[in-house]
Amino acid sequence: MLSSKIAGIGKYLPSNVVTNQDLTAHMETSDEWIVERTGIKERRYAHRTEETTTTMAVEAAKIAIERAGTTAADIDFIVFATLSPDYYFPGCGVLVQRAMGMKEIGALDIRNQCSGFVYALSVADQFIKTGMYKNILVIGSEKHSFGLDFSTRGRNVSVIFGDGAGAVVLQPATNAGQGILSTHLHSDGEAAEILAMYNPGTHANHWGEYANFDEAEIGQMFMSHNMIDSAQNFPFMDGPSVFKKAIVKFPEVILEALQTNGYGPSDLNMLIPHQANLRIAQFVQQKLGLNDEQVYNNIMLYGNTTAASVPIALCEAYEKNLIKEGDLVCLAAFGSGFTWASALIKW
Ligand code: UT7
Repeated sequence: MLSSKIAGIGKYLPSNVVTNQDLTAHMETSDEWIVERTGIKERRYAHRTEETTTTMAVEAAKIAIERAGTTAADIDFIVFATLSPDYYFPGCGVLVQRAMGMKEIGALDIRNQCSGFVYALSVADQFIKTGMYKNILVIGSEKHSFGLDFSTRGRNVSVIFGDGAGAVVLQPATNAGQGILSTHLHSDGEAAEILAMYNPGTHANHWGEYANFDEAEIGQMFMSHNMIDSAQNFPFMDGPSVFKKAIVKFPEVILEALQTNGYGPSDLNMLIPHQANLRIAQFVQQKLGLNDEQVYNNIMLYGNTTAASVPIALCEAYEKNLIKEGDLVCLAAFGSGFTWASALIKW
């Protein structure tokens, strides 16, 4: 069976740098709290009106396509991961197809939040393996800054997230033993509501206050003043509970990837963990006994960019020549759902 390889990779970060100090103008927080709890020093915010999740994705995709030595016209499938799409529907995949003038190829959107890119990579990998497609554009892109609560009420969430995009082009591997060795996908919906954005959504009957609404009022069940007043249109996170689960599932899914392929942590040249929190990444590093050269972190500069964080970090490590041909690279992510995933790659 064919295996797939990352033939090209690109990233895009908006130019607007927002420091921890900048955030203190809107909410009660401090540089000290944010650095100590998360490692984040600054993040990027997209231009409010001129940049969207899709426009950032397109910029990252152009670089990935060029580095893959191909053209937009040769892309035969798009897989797009995001939790902050331009529209509730349609997804961003078709917007990339349109913006890049691509043929009438398939476009698939993935809704797996922090693990979205690794899931997307896994889906694309299967299509390459079966021979169905030969040039798949896989994207993770987020514009969080448009949907965060910048008051003190939302500070535990809003200080964490940033904007950006990463993209890869997946092609059939040319050398035996090269490329994606395996991917591993998991979920546990038991605690789906502890890291979630509740509205707009179609669950309103679970919220008793809307039970007696008549047909004419249904529009308000989807998007009501009360929802906005009670911050249900912003992400909710029980941070400590997410933290506890993350530090168990991250090492587990990384070891699963290594052991499936007959490797151990010491064989790893580079781990690219989803940039959720520097403390989580450091815990994982310690638990697996990895040294500093084996793990790449850039959350200090970009915050948590959810589906974009893994491809941005992978791209940055690649651009710094920290990943060379033949290296063993593991991508791993954990987040809302919960969903978690890993991919082991022979670069
Ligand atoms: O990528 C998606 C997956 N997400 C994650 O993996 C996130 C996992 N969780 C975390 O990273 C951490 O739980 C956080 C960074 C979100 C929070 O850190 P924590 O050490 O768990 O803090 P906490 O939520 O337990 O809050 C501690 C205190 C509270 O005050 P009191 O009740 O002790 O007086 C919060 O109100 O810190 C307060 N606090 C803040 N203070 C200043 C919460 N956010 C802030 C803030 N600035 N931004």
